[in-house]
This record gives sequence, structure tokens and C-alpha cells, in this order.
Amino acid sequence: MSAFRLRDRVQAEDVMVLAAIARACGNFAEDEIAFVPEILAQLAAEGEAKSGYRLLVAEDDQGAAGFAIYGPIPATDHRYDLYWIATDPRAQGCGAGRLLLTESARRAAAEGATHLFIETETGKDYTPAHHLYEACGFPLIATVPDYYREGSGKAIYGGPLSGG
Ligand SMILES: CC(C)(COP(=O)(O)OP(=O)(O)OC[C@H]1O[C@@H](n2cnc3c(N)ncnc32)[C@H](O)[C@@H]1OP(=O)(O)O)[C@@H](O)C(=O)NCCC(=O)NCCS
Repeated sequence: MSAFRLRDRVQAEDVMVLAAIARACGNFAEDEIAFVPEILAQLAAEGEAKSGYRLLVAEDDQGAAGFAIYGPIPATDHRYDLYWIATDPRAQGCGAGRLLLTESARRAAAEGATHLFIETETGKDYTPAHHLYEACGFPLIATVPDYYREGSGKAIYGGPLSGG
């Protein structure tokens, strides 16, 4: 049984706490981390339907241990994107990532999503994330070389959701 509880309501402290988790991971640039408070502010102000964002936070006895942000991709037919997934280094390897990804996919499918995609970068050390996606049934489906910068491509994982 998982040691983590999930919540989907955004809380005031999330702006600081979830950005700190992203920063502690060590593989996101500051301009990427800056999107976390922006997204959370938009979600808090507009709600899920209007903002297009859904939040899941995995909590343990020490508070937030990880989070995922997902939602419908605008102008697509029931395609969803996993925009963010991160587990605090103190809690990595304990099942939070798997829980966040499988529950995001389950909830997306329950909303009517038929596909979930996850865009990531090839040139950085995202190996644990790539393993996680594959292990949860979201294989690598495309790469775009040099997408972000020379030597750093875009990798797209995902595909159809079974429970849609
Ligand atoms: C990717 C990440 C979210 C995984 O979170 P986690 O809570 O440690 O993951 P889990 O404990 O649930 O592990 C689930 C699966 O992920 C894979 N995995 C996790 N850490 C791994 C590692 N260090 N090396 C290889 N595979 C790993 C395994 O397949 C594992 O399955 P298993 O337990 O059956 O072997 C976490 O490593 C992280 O936050 N990384 C930094 C942020 C990041 O890169 N986010 C994605 C950006 S695209």
C-alpha cells in the first residue's frame, strides 16, 4: 500500500512548496520553475475548467512529497498533457511518482481523455523520469533533435489511455 495521500485542491503554500520541490530536483532551470507558481495562481484564480490545469499533490507525514500537473491540450480532441511531475529528493524511490502518474492518467481518462502525452528533454538527466513513463505504460513515441537547443531534443512519451 502507498505511504502517500493525494489531494487535488490547490493550497496557498503550494506556490512556495511545490516550486521548492521542483528546484530541489536539480534538473529544472529557473525559467522552467517559474511556471509552477504561475500555473498554480491561474488554477487558484480560474479553477480547473477555465485554467485547463489539474493538480495532484502526494503528501506524507512531512507534507508535500511530490506533485503532478496535467490537463487537456487546447484545440485537440480529448488529448491531455502531463505538464509537470516531480518528487522531492527526500521521498524519491518510494512510489510517489508512480502514484502521481497513474492517478493523473486515471483521472484524465475519467474526464474523457483518450490520450496522455508527456513532453520532456533528451539532453538533460531525466533518466528516472523516462524509466517512470515506460514503467507506467507510456512509451517513447517521438523525438525531435535539437528542439530546445543544440544537442538537447524534445522526447514525447505517452499514447492512448486504456480507461477512457
Ligand atoms: C521522475 C520522478 C518524478 C520519479 O519519482 P519517484 O517518486 O522517485 O518515482 P517512484 O518511486 O514512483 O518510481 C517509479 C518508477 O520510476 C522509475 N524510476 C524512478 N527513479 C528511478 C531511477 N533513479 N532510475 C531508474 N528508474 C527510476 C522506476 O521504473 C520505478 O519503478 P519501480 O519502482 O517499479 O522500479 C523523480 O525522479 C523526479 O522528481 N525527478 C526529477 C524531476 C523530473 O525529472 N521530472 C520529469 C521531468 S520531464
